Amino acid sequence: LARGVTGPDLAGRHVVISAGGTREPLDPVRYLGNRSSGKQGYALARTAVARGARVTLIEANTGLPDPAGADVVRVGTAVQLREAVLKAAADADVVVMAAAVADFRPAEYAPGKIKKKDGEEAPVVPLVRNPDILAEVAAERARPGQLVVGFAAETDDVLANGRAKLRRKGCDLLVVNEVGERKTFGSEENEAVVLAADGTETPVPYGPKEALADTVWDLVSGRFQEM
Ligand code: CTP
Ligand code: CA
Repeated sequence: LARGVTGPDLAGRHVVISAGGTREPLDPVRYLGNRSSGKQGYALARTAVARGARVTLIEANTGLPDPAGADVVRVGTAVQLREAVLKAAADADVVVMAAAVADFRPAEYAPGKIKKKDGEEAPVVPLVRNPDILAEVAAERARPGQLVVGFAAETDDVLANGRAKLRRKGCDLLVVNEVGERKTFGSEENEAVVLAADGTETPVPYGPKEALADTVWDLVSGRFQEM
């Protein structure tokens, strides 16, 4: 079992986790993307398997090997991620949105490669908003008692932004971390505060992404026991 875990406390639970970062195609060779590695989402998947859960991992562009014991669904864009998450959420006990979802996508996909021409101005690429998957899952609650967990990487006013975001999204838990040199993107370690809708705040010291994952499952499992 994972570090510090004494029993399979997620046995019988269906856990849905999104991981990685969406890519929004502009033309056949280009996309709008982000720096999410997917490592935190994969750590969540591994630890959930270790704690006895049935795990559906919906991954976007991570290139990481499938974690043993998890059902893996591959997607590319935010729209595809939304489809896959809503489908899996239908019978999920908890949905964790660890993926970095592009807020915008190019309004139009150019079927041929966009070419530059001498003497022409730089093109402006119109964008449109992507759906907010976390807010939608939290508002819908496909199953009574379903828990919804979000992630937020912030650079400024980390806690204040996190508290406001937790309310805006309507989720039960929001894992907030500060984007920094050694932390978050691509790194093996993370440091965060888990904010809960009931006002409790759980700091997680700098350490492996598995440790943060286990703290999330501790909080989730504690809430299941209260139900
Ligand atoms: N998220 C989502 N769908 C989106 C954008 C974000 O489901 N279109 C989820 C992410 O997976 C994450 C959480 O919402 O769990 C917070 O993402 P974040 O980008 O911090 O939130 P935003 O509302 O997009 O706020 P910001 O303007 O700060 O980017
Ligand atoms: Ca965003």
